[in-house]
Amino acid sequence: MENRDNELYLWCTNVHPLTPPEAECVLALLSDAERIRYGKLSDAVRRDEFLITRHLLRTALSRHLSLKPDELRFSSNRFGKPSLSQSCGLEFNLSNTSRLAVCLVSFSGPVGVDIEQLSRAADVLEVAELCFSRKEMQHLFSCAPSLRPDRALTLWTLKEAYLKAIGIGLHAGLGKIEFLYDAAGEPRLRVENGIDARPDRWHFYTTDIMNHRIALMARFPFRRRMRIVDTTPSARRHDVWNILQHEVPINTEESADIHDPAAVR
Ligand SMILES: CC(C)(COP(=O)(O)OP(=O)(O)OC[C@H]1O[C@@H](n2cnc3c(N)ncnc32)[C@H](O)[C@@H]1OP(=O)(O)O)[C@@H](O)C(=O)NCCC(=O)NCCS
Repeated sequence: MENRDNELYLWCTNVHPLTPPEAECVLALLSDAERIRYGKLSDAVRRDEFLITRHLLRTALSRHLSLKPDELRFSSNRFGKPSLSQSCGLEFNLSNTSRLAVCLVSFSGPVGVDIEQLSRAADVLEVAELCFSRKEMQHLFSCAPSLRPDRALTLWTLKEAYLKAIGIGLHAGLGKIEFLYDAAGEPRLRVENGIDARPDRWHFYTTDIMNHRIALMARFPFRRRMRIVDTTPSARRHDVWNILQHEVPINTEESADIHDPAAVR
């Protein structure tokens, strides 16, 4: 792919029940460690979620790197953030729900992504006190009651995308990082000393895709132009997935267009 600097590639696919032959095809691409993880999942939805996310990851990365999906090797940092073992300058991060899996890819530095279903906004507000700082709570309750669930969802995804971008997950302590809204209504990242020497380097963006709030985090001013790629299994051949057939360069500022089927070519 061309002009990869400052470009974010967002790959996403719906999570749906896999037929046994489809599941076998994906399993054949996985490492022993991934198969062991899969074997430990007892819930059918979680199993499909896992396989579809791994398939999306291997499909996306193989496409960017011109390697076969089963040639990719992964390792994780001590907090569980996966990365490619092959050194090639590609960074990625994953997020999934029972409905959607996304993989964010960059060639310009670390990235983090988080998605949450829009329907979960009220649940997030209910547990806000456990996740948000005192100032974040003050901000939340200064909003009109009808706006609070939506704002809580944005804060949640931003915090998680940041923690995933720096690779430490929840180990930092959720209260040590804050997104505080400035006078113009823009969230600003504030981080306690010792976690991140340069929080000002991070650029972030939230929007909605496929009934999910998504937060994107990157250590460079990314262009708000991404590739939303549909990867669905072919109805005719289980070992062939429709990949990149609906590649749509989009401007995330026009998020309403993202899921407009007319926009897909
Ligand atoms: C990584 C973490 C932060 C996100 O988990 P999550 O929201 O449950 O799941 P997501 O689907 O968004 O992300 C999971 C993926 O993140 C990646 N990941 C795992 N650990 C990671 C880390 N330390 N840093 C970055 N990415 C990580 C993995 O690829 C994982 O998918 P995989 O296991 O299939 O490979 C996890 O540590 C966690 O425990 N989350 C709890 C949620 C919570 O309490 N959030 C409060 C937010 S305010």
